[in-house]
Amino acid sequence: PSEAPLKGKRIVITSGPTHEAIDPVRYIANRSSGRQGHAIAAAAAQAGADVTLVSGPVSIPDPKGVKVVRVESAREMQAAVEQSLPCDVAIMAAAVADWRVASDAAKKIKKDGSGKVPALQFVENPDILAGVGNHTRLRPRLVIGFAAETHDLIENAQGKLKRKGADWIVANDVSPENNVMGGTENTVRIVTADGVEDWPKMGKEAVAEQLVARIANRLSQD
Ligand code: C5P
Repeated sequence: PSEAPLKGKRIVITSGPTHEAIDPVRYIANRSSGRQGHAIAAAAAQAGADVTLVSGPVSIPDPKGVKVVRVESAREMQAAVEQSLPCDVAIMAAAVADWRVASDAAKKIKKDGSGKVPALQFVENPDILAGVGNHTRLRPRLVIGFAAETHDLIENAQGKLKRKGADWIVANDVSPENNVMGGTENTVRIVTADGVEDWPKMGKEAVAEQLVARIANRLSQD
């Protein structure tokens, strides 16, 4: 195998959480660190790909040799991904917030002293992976999603594969005892139309390298 198996390939990767504003000073977020998505971006760049990493707010450094587009909300992430198409491979590893606050207040919500508490209303965010996977004009050759679940991992991943138009789903069990969210290791299962491949527990960098090798192998078959 060549040292730059992804040379000439354009890869778009999402990583990290999104922040959904409640008002100018508050937001809703999740525990994603961005480690897995960033490691995939680094490994893909190392393999010679032209990588755009669309990253939510994270506290880890930018990977080397990668174009980084920083966003906060799911809607900003979607716009940045749309702008980075066309590409050969899309890897949607971000933990996108499923919902945003319906009325993101222009002013800080204040306590009024009456003891009344605000009630937040939510609306559904756009599904970025589904938008890319079901894209009528610019669907990449290979679309890869993630599924972080605490139960019914494979059934849920297979559902996502179909619904979101993905070719592969990288499924992982994020039950708190596995310490995946924010941790440095991951145990993943690759779910495709052909079946399920179980990978042993390894560091997120190793998962990234194996995934990049699987991608290079897949692209070489077209
Ligand atoms: O449905 P669920 O959030 O579990 O799906 C996870 C997969 O879908 C991940 O690949 C994630 O990046 C992607 N996703 C997305 N936009 C959303 C929600 C999830 O791209 N709004």
